[in-house]
Amino acid sequence: MEHFVIRGGRPLSGMIPISGAKNAALPACVASLLTDEQVIIDHVPHLRDVSTILSTISSLGKRVVRDEESVSIAGGEDLRCQPQALFVEQMRASFLVLGPLVARLGRAIVPLPGGCQIGARPVDLHLSGLRSLGAQVTEGANSVTVVAKRLRGARINLPFPSVGATEQIAMSACLAKGETLIENAAWEPEVMDLADLLRRMGAEIEYREGSLHIQGRPSLHGARHLVIPDRMEAGTYLIASAITGGQVTVQGVVPEHLRSVLQILSGTGCKIEETDHAIKVTSDARPRPINTITAPYPGFPTDLQPPLVALLSLADGTSTVEEKIFEHRFTYTSALREMGAQIEVNGRTAVINGVSKLQATSASAPDIRAGAALVLAALAADGESTIDNLGQIDRGYEHMVQKLRGLGGQIERIS
Ligand code: EPZ
Repeated sequence: MEHFVIRGGRPLSGMIPISGAKNAALPACVASLLTDEQVIIDHVPHLRDVSTILSTISSLGKRVVRDEESVSIAGGEDLRCQPQALFVEQMRASFLVLGPLVARLGRAIVPLPGGCQIGARPVDLHLSGLRSLGAQVTEGANSVTVVAKRLRGARINLPFPSVGATEQIAMSACLAKGETLIENAAWEPEVMDLADLLRRMGAEIEYREGSLHIQGRPSLHGARHLVIPDRMEAGTYLIASAITGGQVTVQGVVPEHLRSVLQILSGTGCKIEETDHAIKVTSDARPRPINTITAPYPGFPTDLQPPLVALLSLADGTSTVEEKIFEHRFTYTSALREMGAQIEVNGRTAVINGVSKLQATSASAPDIRAGAALVLAALAADGESTIDNLGQIDRGYEHMVQKLRGLGGQIERIS
């Protein structure tokens, strides 16, 4: 099985370029379903999840052309209303095609995405949003069928600012008749990036005071869009700097998107320097312990919780991290415990008694971010670790080996 071999215990240092954001690129590709005209998306990372979304869109009848950093998506005169189950099962973001297909075709049949390692991840908010827009939703055992002659605008109050539900409803509402208000909408930078693309495509969409205001249009047109930098990738490498006692600069980022992460890193004792598009994190001592919770933006992101816990496992004292977004996002801590970390999980809270050293291990990446956390722990640990199930890490981190090697990391991919 393909695996990483990591020889840890050395500080990382240098500059690392940050890729386009996976979680912005995925909905941007889906938004291309809202028009037959050409949509060009730049700064699209080469990731397994991106390939999956492009396959999903091709399976619906779109012409997709990918070159180095860009994706061109056009056509759709013969748009189909049902994507191949294979792709939706692989990745939850494929479920976002549901609303745009209904808006374009009046009917869509989309497989229900499976649960995953981090929690149940239901789609009830997506479906109730579409119902509010006037669609008839029928839930089968494995798929959902949604029908609507023409969606109509509505006032929708989300009980939780779900990223996916906000994106699903926003895309659908762009082609609905009349005005839609999504109250308590998610406003993660990736959601705002999607809104930006939709505006370029001719949508009237604006975020004001916690709500997305959308004035529906009969049609949208083609556009070209540059995806924002990946704050999760950047945050992961900044934490890699902290955990190895290094000095790493992430280049090509929007520091504002990482505000809560920088606050936390500063709380652990790291020195932070930032310019308009770069952040440098320097660490020359054991991290200080902290207590924190994950939260929707602008709070500390759940996606960086596993790397943070890896860092805190080496802190000089006891930390707590409460996971507020996903109910099962601490499963990877058993692998950290095998490395010598002292972590106790009580429900949604991890209590981490920092140790001074981690030992090398052999482990499997359980999911994207937990996989990254294990890589970071291995980079900090004494000795040689192996990490397999790299398909998970490939879903979310472009060129991880090259990037870490560029910082002096001793990591190899063995096929
Ligand atoms: C997005 O997932 C991201 N994925 C996730 O990144 C990220 O962890 C998450 O937002 C939170 O920031 C993409 O953007 C492709 P949610 P999403 O809907 O949209 C509950 C990564 O590693 N909920 O905001 O699925 C849900 O169960 C991934 O890159 C419902 O109850 O997240 C969860 O507890 C993992 N009903 C909470 O809301 C619904 O209908 C947040 O989910 C929808 C969500």
